[in-house]
Amino acid sequence: MAGDDAATRRAGAVLTIDLGAIAANWRGLRDAGRASGKPVDCAAVLKADAYGCGAALVGPRLASEGCRQFFVAHIDEGITLRQVVPDHSIYVLNGLMAGTEGDFIEHRLTPAINHLGQLNAWRTAAQRFDRPLNAVIHVDTGMHRLGFGPDELSALINDHRGRLRGLRLALVMSHLVASEEQQNPVNGEQLQRFRTVIQALPGAPASLANSSGIFLGPDYHFDLLRPGAALYGINPLPGQPNPMLPVVTLEARVLQVRRVDAFQTVGYGGAWRASRPSRVATIALGYADGYFRTLINRTHVHVAGKRVPVIGRISMDLVTIDVTDLGEAECQPGTAVEVLGPHQSPDDIAEHARTNAYEVMTALGRRYARHYVEGSHA
Ligand SMILES: Cc1ncc(COP(=O)(O)O)c(C=O)c1O
Repeated sequence: MAGDDAATRRAGAVLTIDLGAIAANWRGLRDAGRASGKPVDCAAVLKADAYGCGAALVGPRLASEGCRQFFVAHIDEGITLRQVVPDHSIYVLNGLMAGTEGDFIEHRLTPAINHLGQLNAWRTAAQRFDRPLNAVIHVDTGMHRLGFGPDELSALINDHRGRLRGLRLALVMSHLVASEEQQNPVNGEQLQRFRTVIQALPGAPASLANSSGIFLGPDYHFDLLRPGAALYGINPLPGQPNPMLPVVTLEARVLQVRRVDAFQTVGYGGAWRASRPSRVATIALGYADGYFRTLINRTHVHVAGKRVPVIGRISMDLVTIDVTDLGEAECQPGTAVEVLGPHQSPDDIAEHARTNAYEVMTALGRRYARHYVEGSHA
């Protein structure tokens, strides 16, 4: 098991995060943006604690790599990130909530302005605090979730000088609905709508592509790429080989190994019944650590590189695995079991749990001992 410190000795499971792989993934995406010869910049999306990887370390690591623009969802995520990323742009995607204008200004955060009400409030703040303020305009081109819809957009475009008075338009952005489906016509439709918008708001940098959007090609790149998932090793091309480096390894410790007779059951509800005399190992993680209950009888782990089925219900703190086919010496109390790693990616586990790797990553537990390594990724 990685590490030999006291926290690791006490921990039920150890999460190892390869900061060097995150940095290499960022460089690869940045270079994809530059491949067309245009000066496309690459930001990093660090919301949800950098998709579970730890924004406090990922932020500075990417800043040292040359990343100068960061996105979070909540203002509090921005305030926390500001402490470790003092000099670069931090954009708050969920926007400006009433009464938080002073917090944005104090921590030099830029809200994504999602509707006219927020724009009015931000313009008023610029007057009240008597200083020009940066703003991101988020345009809805089809997600129908956040951002300026057609009517509000027309109102903005028709009087953009007045509506943006005292503000500096740092970015016009939109978000793709189905960028991971390369053949989906909605991508092209959103692209056309976005082009129309930026023609009407000239001069501002533009951003459309999330991770998968980058792989839709240079038409989607505009001035700024906005990857999150791919930085953390999630496959931006589902169904195709993953071009990103893996980032996380999760190892859980075996607490106990026991013999179970044929026909005896294991765990809550007796949801798994032995068909033969078996050996069952209990490992130290559970649904409280983000190991989903939907994984019941549907996934596996690896012990000494060998695939071992997860059996029975997932408990809050414990998971049981069938180690009957392993040699006894291979699985003892204390043995490290690979839950995520070279043999099984977050995308694999997501498929077993019928979710996506984003949810697997952002659910990664707070009880794991965490190790940050640099890997070796030139
Ligand atoms: C507005 C916006 N931009 C960019 C991203 C990053 O997307 P991805 O993680 O797919 O790269 C997200 C994440 O959901 C987002 O909400």
